[in-house]
Amino acid sequence: MPRGIFITLEGLDGSGKTTQIKRLAAWLTRRGHQPFLLRQPGGTAIGDRIRELLLDSRSRSLDPMTEMALMFADRAQAIAEIIQPALDAGKVVVCDRFTDSTEAYQGGGRKLGSQVVLDLHRLICRDVQPDLTLLLLPGFAVSLARARRRNLRDTSETGRDENRFETEKDGFFRRVWEKYHEIAGREPNRVVLIEGDLSIDEVHEQIIESVSERIVSLAQKS
Ligand code: TYD
Repeated sequence: MPRGIFITLEGLDGSGKTTQIKRLAAWLTRRGHQPFLLRQPGGTAIGDRIRELLLDSRSRSLDPMTEMALMFADRAQAIAEIIQPALDAGKVVVCDRFTDSTEAYQGGGRKLGSQVVLDLHRLICRDVQPDLTLLLLPGFAVSLARARRRNLRDTSETGRDENRFETEKDGFFRRVWEKYHEIAGREPNRVVLIEGDLSIDEVHEQIIESVSERIVSLAQKS
């Protein structure tokens, strides 16, 4: 059986990934691909516990290396439990964030650099790579304003405090944004950069265009 298709979505906080994933999933379902959806950190029982540690504002003393190690621990579990079995069964997997987030946030934002992230990815994630990454990245001013709008999300609404990253300073988000650009420049075949202050419909159109192309080209190869 041909390997399935692994699609990831990336972008700053508030970039609209969640809305786009829902619309992409509905589009895939209408075409007969039952997509597997998951998000990082989280998505498995163990990953959800790691997520709590990572995003809770009370985890203020978390060292950047610990933070990165926890992101990879979460990812290794998701690959073993969900992503690899689904791909082996020929399914489409859509993941909200993957190792590009670690490179952008820990490598860029926390200044740990790209190399350590790429090395750990090879070791811990056996270099599992997405077939296609959709990077939602408007200009920095728009990206920052959207990330800030998400700032201090209503804890009472979710019952959880998941604001640790959203309370970071502008310089942190600038480094994340720049690192995402660097990744897109380095891997143009995998990463589709969706720039500009586009409407939800316009972004969706670009996403389905890229996904259709990738589905066709992967089907031709298998
Ligand atoms: P989440 O609430 O899922 O945000 P979003 O909807 O924007 O994806 O929080 C995930 C946060 O974790 C987000 O601020 C980015 C951060 N993160 C990292 O710093 N490194 C990583 O490897 C991953 C997967 C996420």
